[in-house]
Amino acid sequence: MDAHVNDGGSLRFNGIGKVFPGVKALSDISFVAHPGSVHALMGENGAGKSTLLKILGGSYIPDSGNLQIGERPMDFRSAADSIDSGVAVIHQELHLVPEMSVAENLLLGHMPARYGMVNRQMLNRRAAELLKELAGEIDPRERLGNLSLGQRQLVEIAKAMSRNAHVIAFDEPTSSLSAREIDRLMTIIGKLRDEGKVVLYVSHRMEEIFRICDAVTVFKDGRFVRTFEQIDQLDQNQLVTCMVGRDIQDIYNYRPRERQGEALRAEGLLGPGLNEAVSFTAHKGEVLGFFGLVGAGRTELLRLLCGLERLKAGQLVLDGQVLNLKSPRDAIAAGILLCPEDRKKEGIVPLGSVAENINISARHHHAQLGCLVPAQWERENAERQIRALNVKTPSPDQPIMFLSGGNQQKVILGRWLSLSMKVLLLDEPTRGIDIGAKSEIYQIIHNLAAEGIAVIVVSSDLMEVIGISDRILVMSEGALTGEVAREQADEARLLQLALPRTRG
Ligand SMILES: Nc1ncnc2c1ncn2[C@@H]1O[C@H](COP(=O)(O)OP(=O)(O)OP(=O)(O)O)[C@@H](O)[C@H]1O
Ligand SMILES: [Mg+2]
Repeated sequence: MDAHVNDGGSLRFNGIGKVFPGVKALSDISFVAHPGSVHALMGENGAGKSTLLKILGGSYIPDSGNLQIGERPMDFRSAADSIDSGVAVIHQELHLVPEMSVAENLLLGHMPARYGMVNRQMLNRRAAELLKELAGEIDPRERLGNLSLGQRQLVEIAKAMSRNAHVIAFDEPTSSLSAREIDRLMTIIGKLRDEGKVVLYVSHRMEEIFRICDAVTVFKDGRFVRTFEQIDQLDQNQLVTCMVGRDIQDIYNYRPRERQGEALRAEGLLGPGLNEAVSFTAHKGEVLGFFGLVGAGRTELLRLLCGLERLKAGQLVLDGQVLNLKSPRDAIAAGILLCPEDRKKEGIVPLGSVAENINISARHHHAQLGCLVPAQWERENAERQIRALNVKTPSPDQPIMFLSGGNQQKVILGRWLSLSMKVLLLDEPTRGIDIGAKSEIYQIIHNLAAEGIAVIVVSSDLMEVIGISDRILVMSEGALTGEVAREQADEARLLQLALPRTRG
């Protein structure tokens, strides 16, 4: 029997609807994605993109409507049904087992066995083949939990690719990939298109959409808005306007500010991930951007600044006082806060409500100071953050695990914005967040700076760093390689400083 029960035709969504308690996630979604084409799904956080892909992957059963591949109607009751019909969905949340090796994760369910024993050598060899094109540098024997978030994402993608499906759907696959990893993924997606596959692609990153997609369908609040069959006849502004339903003039919301006195001074810092001593000053009321490619040492530097790692050399001076940070607790007490990059991992409390997830840091913070946070304050704070960040939730009491990926990100960000601080460290603050919400987050960053807070933003998004920073420091290979004032910042200059230096 043919492994794939489909005829290689188009993928059709016919009037798909899906309701969750209190939320109409999808209503009457109909559109067609053609073979040999990469079809983007776009829409704001909570628009229903992931829900549609979960229906395609058999994880959810629609309340109404159906799917069709070519002439055949599909009725998926489980993930296995979807896989058997030649569909591969790479979900927004990873579904891997951190305790197992990369190879075991890749070949879970079809491990090569001899005499009933798993043949490790063969397992690792086969895994290496699957990884070759996408991530040849990953050792199949490595424990998955030891990989970076980006590498784990690549393993998940390689796993889906290994099934040689006819329909392949990616839900924000690049949110944690480096520029080089993204390039490799784009090449592979181009190949899938050329082989005549149906590719669905969800991303909030405009440049990716315009780079690899042929068509785009826009959703808003669970409804179909429009399909553009030819993306090359569209410009970014038209697409954004269609998504958010209004014009966004300037998403960065930058306003010039008076630079004030010194807030945090780093003198000759050395620590894990830093190969040369790092010195810089962040001023009150300043947005200081850190640009660099993934692995440049920016996250490691932030970890030193907030007490997650101990300094090997050098010192930190805040408001003229030398700090001795032994733990993040010391940093928080001093007024230095880190909003980490891997916000999912650092922690949502999945069963907790949106309000609890917002207030958790404030609670800890106050407990350390020996006082309780009044329930009234928590209530108001949750409502304030939900409003400020435009979190899409039926109520503050909704369990956070029922929110869309981007809305969970916003809640975690709200957690940090609930605290009083002198220095705010933001690591990739807008990853996975839609363009309307991004703009709102930039506004919040500028407001914090206007209140006199020193905001340090680490980002791999060149346009973002240039758009929001007063000054940009560039890192490469664990060292600071340059400082660029806002007026002098352009893509070429920053990239040049960020690229690894050639050695003679
Ligand atoms: N299991 C669930 N229970 C309750 N509500 C849910 C569930 N899954 C999704 N929702 C809700 O359905 C809506 C659509 O969510 P979905 O995850 O599909 O959005 P999305 O377009 O993928 O957003 P994002 O860009 O943030 O990832 C949201 O309002 C979300 O809170
Ligand atoms: Mg999603």
